[in-house]
Amino acid sequence: MPAMVMSNAGPSGAKKFEGRITIYVVICGIIAATGGLMFGYDIGISGGVTSMDDFLEEFFPAVFERKHKAKEDNYCKFDNQNLQLFTSSLYLAALVASFVASKICTKHGRKLTMQAASIFFLVGVILNAAAVNIAMLIIGRILLGVGVGFANQAVPLFLSEIAPVHVRGALNILFQLDVTIGIFVANIVNYLVSNIHPWGWRLALGLAGVPAMMLCLGSMVIAETPTSLIEREMLMEGLAMLKKIRGTDNVDAEYEEILHACEMARQVKQPFKNLMKRSSRPQLVIAIVMQVFQQFTGINAIMFYAPVLFQTIGFKNDASLLSAVITGIVNVLSTVVSVVLVDKVGRRFLLLEACGQMLITQVAIGGILLVNLKATNELGHGVAVWVVVLVCLFVSSFAWSWGPLGWLIPSETFPLATRTAGYAFAVSSNMLFTFVIAQAFLSMMCHLRAGIFFFFGAWIAVMGLFVIFLLPETKNVPIDEMTEKVWKQHWFWKRFMDEEEDKKHSV
Ligand code: BGC
Repeated sequence: MPAMVMSNAGPSGAKKFEGRITIYVVICGIIAATGGLMFGYDIGISGGVTSMDDFLEEFFPAVFERKHKAKEDNYCKFDNQNLQLFTSSLYLAALVASFVASKICTKHGRKLTMQAASIFFLVGVILNAAAVNIAMLIIGRILLGVGVGFANQAVPLFLSEIAPVHVRGALNILFQLDVTIGIFVANIVNYLVSNIHPWGWRLALGLAGVPAMMLCLGSMVIAETPTSLIEREMLMEGLAMLKKIRGTDNVDAEYEEILHACEMARQVKQPFKNLMKRSSRPQLVIAIVMQVFQQFTGINAIMFYAPVLFQTIGFKNDASLLSAVITGIVNVLSTVVSVVLVDKVGRRFLLLEACGQMLITQVAIGGILLVNLKATNELGHGVAVWVVVLVCLFVSSFAWSWGPLGWLIPSETFPLATRTAGYAFAVSSNMLFTFVIAQAFLSMMCHLRAGIFFFFGAWIAVMGLFVIFLLPETKNVPIDEMTEKVWKQHWFWKRFMDEEEDKKHSV
């Protein structure tokens, strides 16, 4: 896997390359957005579908029965390993697929990888929408997962490579914005189709084909990135493409930089081995930990299972889906806040503020449920509304902090030589822990009951301490000055940066 080729300059150190934001780059951005939409739609749709009666009756009759038994335990009515497998199989498939995709991306380019993503995804959608048994459902989900793995590997790389240097940061969070829009659209679809019987769920799953078709058709009209062309030794094509996307013939400086970056990437024959060096430890730990912590906020317990959760606390079908729509809107709007603030107030401020807000809201939700929700009663209307408000406050703080920064920070801390390999660890950690939460949440809720919210609260407290003591501020530090300006200055991490020590300890 080659090092991801990004500019060497951060916001304060941006070299002045000529070139504007061309229509071509805008079109490419829209196409990349559909990759984010695909991912987000998947995150949002499964919770809705797995709470629809028609769907449960057809594939999970035991869950359907339990759900409708008056005396069933509130915290356990959805606990079913097969039902959880439906949601989580996608992430396991994506975890494996992203490693395969990284190789295809290098050898055959970003465009082909995106096309492959959309084809896998479309076949998965067809299997899901036409499913007549659990096997079709699960195989369909696995193919969707392969599509997501391929898209998540290729699309951010593609975006980084086509973006003019001065808008790359914004484009980065734009991808997360598209994920949140995908989740929101899925929530609306869940809400609208829940009254279409008995095939509303088929429509919900089938509509995932829309962003996939957009990516499929879109990736036919766009060309390959200059970096990928140059990396594959198609120098003239790469130069021509660079001129096209920048809208100017004066691209020599940028061309030279890409050429140089490709040279360096070629010299690192084993980026993964490089990553195991002592001096890579700080970045590697931060990249993995950011993703693990992102998932242990409990966000996906809310995202996947919001409708299920709201039903558990006593909302009726429509009301619970509507509540999930509200959290979807909050998620999108709060991500915009992050786009605006991240380079002004800094990463650490957003993360710490959010730790406080998330800790208070998780503990408050846990407390309310502990006192008010027993095994078989329903929450009063007023109390249930409070729970929704608290969930919205939780989601908003996640959306301007750990959501986008879980992706941004790992992408900006590695030196070029280990950037892609390191980022691959971040992506796979995300998929792994998304899988773990998706698979475990309903059982955990059944066993820990309201305590599940304290469980996540405890993790959030740990994250806050981690940020205070171990996470350096990376705002406005040029990417390639990170080692000197950040890691070698940090009270704890600087001990890993000694080159002599590195030689002694290197594997
Ligand atoms: C996370 C997803 C999550 C989403 C919510 C992303 O950054 O990786 O797991 O569902 O944010 O908006």
